Amino acid sequence: MSTLPTPAPEALDHSGQLRRHIEQAIEAAGGWLSFATYMELTLYAPGLGYYAAGAGKFGASGDFVTAPEISSHFGRTLARQAEQVLSRTGGDILELGAGSGRLALDILGRLAEMNGLPGRYLILEVSPDLRQRQRDLFAAERPELLDRMVWLDRLPDRFNGLVLANEVLDALPVHLVRWGRAGIEERGVGLAGSELIWIDRAISTPLLKQGTLALPAQAPGYVSEINLAGPALIQTLADRLGQGLMLFLDYGFPRAEYYHPQRDGGTLMCHYRHHAHTDPFFLPGLQDITAHVDFTAIADAAQDAGMAVMGYSNQATFLINCGLLDGLGGLDPRSREYLQAMSGIQKLLQPTEMGELFKVLAIGKNVPGPLLGFSRGDRLHSL
Ligand SMILES: C[S@@+](CC[C@H](N)C(=O)[O-])C[C@H]1O[C@@H](n2cnc3c(N)ncnc32)[C@H](O)[C@@H]1O
Repeated sequence: MSTLPTPAPEALDHSGQLRRHIEQAIEAAGGWLSFATYMELTLYAPGLGYYAAGAGKFGASGDFVTAPEISSHFGRTLARQAEQVLSRTGGDILELGAGSGRLALDILGRLAEMNGLPGRYLILEVSPDLRQRQRDLFAAERPELLDRMVWLDRLPDRFNGLVLANEVLDALPVHLVRWGRAGIEERGVGLAGSELIWIDRAISTPLLKQGTLALPAQAPGYVSEINLAGPALIQTLADRLGQGLMLFLDYGFPRAEYYHPQRDGGTLMCHYRHHAHTDPFFLPGLQDITAHVDFTAIADAAQDAGMAVMGYSNQATFLINCGLLDGLGGLDPRSREYLQAMSGIQKLLQPTEMGELFKVLAIGKNVPGPLLGFSRGDRLHSL
C-alpha cells in the first residue's frame, strides 16, 4: 500500500471516524461482521461511507472514471435505445445511482433533439452529496430540463418506462465465501487488537447458503463473492414495473466465467485515486469497493420474478448496434472535435478497455422486441 497517494489530514480524520464506527459495529455483533455488512458500512454508513459523504469519486480528480464521464457519446447513444423503448411503452425514465448526473444530462439532451423527451426523469440516488452534484450539473448546463427531474428517496410504488443502471450492481454489498475441505464457509471481518482481519466461519444466513448451491465445486482455498442484493433489487423492481425495460450496464461475466477455477481470488476490487488494488481494509470511506457482476444470477432473478430476459451483449456490440459510430458521420476526420470524440469512443469500444469486460443486460415486462441494442451479436445463450 506504500505506493498509494497519501490522503490529506482531514480525509484521514474522516476515515478514522468511520473506522471507529466499524470497530463498534464488530464489537456489538460479537466480534464478527459479514463482509456484506462491512461493505455496506464502508460505502453507505450515513454521513461517513464513501458514497454517503463528500469524497470526489468520479473523474480525473476522483478515484475512478465511468463511461458517462469518458464520453458524452455514451449517453447520447443510450438515448436511441431509450427512445425505442419509450415509443413502445410510454412512461418515464428511472435512473438508479446517477453518479455525477452526466448520463442523465446526455440522454435527455439527445432525446430533446429527437423530440422524444419523457415527461419525467426520475433519479434514485442513495448518496446525498451526489444528489446535490446532479442538481448542480443540470442547473448549470440545462436548467430548462430541471422541471422534468425528480429525485426519489425510494423506489416508486408503480413505474412504466425505462429503468437504467450504469455501474450500480457492482456497488452493491456482496458476501464473501471460501471453499474449504468440509464445504463452503463465509468470510467475514473481525478485529485483532486494532487490526481488521478476515475470519472464516459457518455461513450466516439461509439465503446465502441457498446461493452457494448454484455454484460449481472449487478447490479448497478458492474465495469469491455472492451478491444477494442484486437479485433482491431485481425482484423489487419487477414488482413495481407495470410495463417497461430495465437496462443494466456493468463489468461482469456469465456464471461459468465468474466462478472459473482460475479466478480463485474472486473479483473484489478497490479504487483509490485511480489506483486499483484488492485490500478492502485500506482507509475505509476513502476508497470505492466493488465486485464484478454475475449476470447469470441477475438473469435468473429476473426470470423468477416473471420478467423476460431480452438481450445480453458486451458494451461495444450494444453501443455499435445503437448507432454510436453514426454520430460521427457529420464530423471532419481531420478536426480536433473528431479526434477528441474518437479518443473517448475508443475507450468505450476497445476490448482491452471497456468494450468486452462491460456487459449490457436487458430485462423487460410487456415490451415488444426486438431491441435496437441487441440486433446483432446477442449472447443470451452464454448466461
Ligand atoms: C460506481 S457509481 C456509478 C455512478 C454512475 N451511474 C456512473 O456511471 O457514473 C455507483 C452508484 O450507485 C449508487 N447506488 C448504490 N446502491 C444503490 C441502490 N441500492 N440504489 C440506487 N443507487 C445506488 C451510488 O450512490 C452511486 O451513485
